[in-house]
Amino acid sequence: MRVALVIGTRPQIIKSAPIVHAAKGFPEVELFIVHTGQHYDYEMSKEFFNELSLPDPVVNLGVGSGSHGWQTAQMMMGLEKAYLELRPDVVLVPGDTNSTLAGALTAVKMRIPVAHVESGARSWDMGMPEEVNRRVVDHVSDLLFAVSENCAANLRREGIPDERIRLVGDTMYESIQRHMSDIEREQAAKQYGLEPKHYGVLTLHRAENTDDEARLSSILGALVDLDIDIVFPCHPRTRARLAEFGLLEAIKGRLRLVEPLPYFRMLSLVRDGGVVLTDSGGLQKEAFWLGTPCVTLRDSTEWVETVEAGVNVLVGWDRGRIVEAVWGYLRGGASRGGSSGGLMLAGASRRILGELASFYG
Ligand code: UD1
Repeated sequence: MRVALVIGTRPQIIKSAPIVHAAKGFPEVELFIVHTGQHYDYEMSKEFFNELSLPDPVVNLGVGSGSHGWQTAQMMMGLEKAYLELRPDVVLVPGDTNSTLAGALTAVKMRIPVAHVESGARSWDMGMPEEVNRRVVDHVSDLLFAVSENCAANLRREGIPDERIRLVGDTMYESIQRHMSDIEREQAAKQYGLEPKHYGVLTLHRAENTDDEARLSSILGALVDLDIDIVFPCHPRTRARLAEFGLLEAIKGRLRLVEPLPYFRMLSLVRDGGVVLTDSGGLQKEAFWLGTPCVTLRDSTEWVETVEAGVNVLVGWDRGRIVEAVWGYLRGGASRGGSSGGLMLAGASRRILGELASFYG
């Protein structure tokens, strides 16, 4: 069985790594990576391949950045050609990016079966491109690999038949478990001279935050008000906007602005941090698994389990709410309550491969 694993962005590389490694234990599965080239900077792509010991993609379409329509169309044209040449029996798409959408849509139009990893996540906010991508991909997929009970329930509510849904757990969780000693060895807080549990880790890259000057200024204002050590590994999109809006000066000396970090170093910082501030989906979960409370700079989240557990709070971009939430966690700490709703189900990659082998084999 030939499986084309289509990726394009940094988080998709992380989500895919455990599957690529687990495939070695399934001799009937021939799995290869197709990269759209959505992310192309060394520290957004190749560095993660190296760190996670992944083989090179069999093809990189080199699509790069552009508007959503242009980018998705370029990917689809490239993928159509690649699928014709590579003849996959099934296309496996992780996550919710434009690469996920292009990978799935191209396949379904060529009548190649599609399997979606991280299926059923919903923020219920169609203003987010990722929400559009998730919903479309789920509804054209044959096999839907849900991370949690909540994700599986979302799919059922949308009328997807039970026999296509598999609750498998999260490959991002698996990746953290597999690499815990690498993460611990990194000691990033020490490298940056930070006092464990007293500093914040910030990431910001959603268009709705970065491309709106008022929102970006409000968020940065809150971080300056906080007056605590904050490390800010900055996405290239965000750095460009900070420069465009003339905001770089305002945060100079207040936030520790660094380049996007490699995987182990980033997770080491999160693990030893007092609080995470982010608008990323994946980082909300990584903070949850590493035991660091999270303040989410959005009005909605697809990872409601983390909020229900009391270790993640949604604050949008309001300056006062951000400050209050961060101090709440730093002063009072956060104790995780309730069940994890399946977010801590181990062994996702083997389950995914086993299901693929029996569904399509
Ligand atoms: C994409 C995904 C998002 C995911 C994120 C992870 C979509 C719609 N969005 O967002 O879901 O959470 O990846 O990082 O698919 N850029 C570079 N170098 C790179 C890549 C991007 O400089 O290697 C810059 C370009 O200016 C580009 C901008 O970042 O225009 C945005 O990149 P893009 O891939 O379109 O979206 P992300 O914001 O990275």
